[in-house]
Amino acid sequence: MEKDKQLRNKIIQRLKDCELQDDNRVAFHLTPPVGLLNDPNGLVYYKGKYHVFYQWNPFETKHTFKCWGHYSSKDLIHWEEHPPALVPSEWYEKDGCYSGSAIEYNNMLYLFYTGNVKTEEGGRETYQCLAVSEDGIHFDKKGPVIHLPEGYTPHFRDPKVWQQENKWFMVIGAQTTSLDGTVVLFSSDDLEHWQMEGPLAGNGISLPNEFGYMWECPDFFYLNNMDILLVSPQGLKTEPFKYENLFQSGYFIGEWDLMENTFVHGEFSELDHGFDFYAPQTFEDRSGRRILIAWMGMGDEQEQSHHSIKSGWVHALTIPREIYLKDGSLYQKPVEELKQLRKNPKSETITIANEQMEFPLDSELNEVFIDIEQFDGKQFEIQLQNNCKLIFNNEKGILTLERKSFDQGNLETRQCKIDKLQNIHMFLDRSSLEIFINDGQTVFTSRFYKDTVENQCVITVEGKSKFTWENWSLHSYQ
Ligand code: FRU
Repeated sequence: MEKDKQLRNKIIQRLKDCELQDDNRVAFHLTPPVGLLNDPNGLVYYKGKYHVFYQWNPFETKHTFKCWGHYSSKDLIHWEEHPPALVPSEWYEKDGCYSGSAIEYNNMLYLFYTGNVKTEEGGRETYQCLAVSEDGIHFDKKGPVIHLPEGYTPHFRDPKVWQQENKWFMVIGAQTTSLDGTVVLFSSDDLEHWQMEGPLAGNGISLPNEFGYMWECPDFFYLNNMDILLVSPQGLKTEPFKYENLFQSGYFIGEWDLMENTFVHGEFSELDHGFDFYAPQTFEDRSGRRILIAWMGMGDEQEQSHHSIKSGWVHALTIPREIYLKDGSLYQKPVEELKQLRKNPKSETITIANEQMEFPLDSELNEVFIDIEQFDGKQFEIQLQNNCKLIFNNEKGILTLERKSFDQGNLETRQCKIDKLQNIHMFLDRSSLEIFINDGQTVFTSRFYKDTVENQCVITVEGKSKFTWENWSLHSYQ
C-alpha cells in the first residue's frame, strides 16, 4: 500500500509540475496529460460509462515506467480524466502494469493485465493479474491468476477476457520456446481459477509456417457469424504493399470449435495501412456495437523524433470506430457519436478535368467526406496541410499515403492496393490524420507535423471527376 501511495503522489506531483502548451496537441483524440501513451487497455462499458484505460508513462516519453491511465465518458465525446487505475507497486508487476482488458461481472469491474518483472540477471518474468473494482475508479489488486506455462518464453502477455456459453475465456499473446508468435487460450468458471486450453493460433497450430516471432495484444470475438482473431504480430517481413511498418496489426477470420479448441481461419489481413496504428482492442457496447480503438503510434526508430516530445508528451489513441464484416473484410466506421463534434457544414458538387482545386478549411480540426460519383483518368490526389498526400493511381490500383518523416523531413510513403476509389472520409486533427476509404474497407492512420499555419486541402485530378465535397470543422474534446 505504501509503495502504491508513493507512486501516486509522484504522479500527482508530475501533473502539477507540467504545463503542456503545444500547437501540435491533438484536440479530439485521447492523449496522456503528460508523458507517453501506448496501447488502449480495458475498453468497457460499465455502469453507464465508457471506460478507456491506456498504457501510460507519466514521467518521460520513453517505454520505461508503465501504469494504467484512465478516462471515462458517457458519450464517447466528452472525457473525464481519473487517477491511474493501476500503478506498479507490487512484486509481481514491479516493472510495469502491462496491457490487458476489462469485463463486468456481478456489478463489479474486473481488470486483467500483465505484471511485468525484470530480474537482476537481465531476464523477465510475467504474471497475468487480476484487479477488481466496485466504482470503476478504485481497484483492489488480487495478484497473479496465471503463471507462465511450459513451452513459452516470458513474452507471454496482454490477456483479453470475454464470456461465452456460461464460461469465461481468455486469450494471451505469446512466444513459444521455438520463437514462434502464437495465441494461447485459457478458460475459467469463476474468473480467479484458470485452465489452459492450449494454443489457439500460430505456426504449426493454425498456420503452416512461421509468421512472426511474437504476437502481442490478441482479441477474439464473434462478429457477423464469424470468429475473428485480432493480433499484433512482430517480425513480419515487408512485402510489396504489405507489412510496411516495423510491427503490424491485423485479423484472421475463421471458425472456432469451442469443444475441440480449433480455430480454422483464412489469411492475415492488415487493419490499417498508415504509419501509426498498433495494438487495437475492441469491446461490445450496450447497443451491440463492436467498437475498436487502437494506439495511434508505433514504437519504431522514429518514435523519439516526434516533435511533441520537446513539449513533454507523445502519442494518442485513434478515434473510436465501429467494426463490422462485409464480403470477407473487416470494415471500420467512425462511431456515430463523432457527428456531435461537427460545426460549420459546407458542401458542394464539383466536376473537374485535369485541374487542381483548393478547398480552404475553416480550422485545424476537420472532418471531410468526398463522395466520388465519377472518375475516369490516371490520378486522384488530395493534399492536406501541405505535407500529407493521398494519391490514387487508377491505372495500377495503388493508393499511397505520403508524409514528411519526423526526423529528416524527407518524404516517406505507405501503400496498398484497391480496386476502385468510391469515397474518402477523413478526420484531421492538429497532428493526426485518419482516412477511411470506400466506407472503411481500407484505412490509413497517421501522425504528421505540419509546416504551415494555413489550413487547406488541395485536390488534383488527372482525368475527369465529378464528386461531392463535404466538410465540417470539429469541436475539440475539452
Ligand atoms: C504492445 C506492448 C504490449 C505490452 C505493452 C507494454 O505495444 O508491447 O505487448 O503489454 O505494450 O507497454
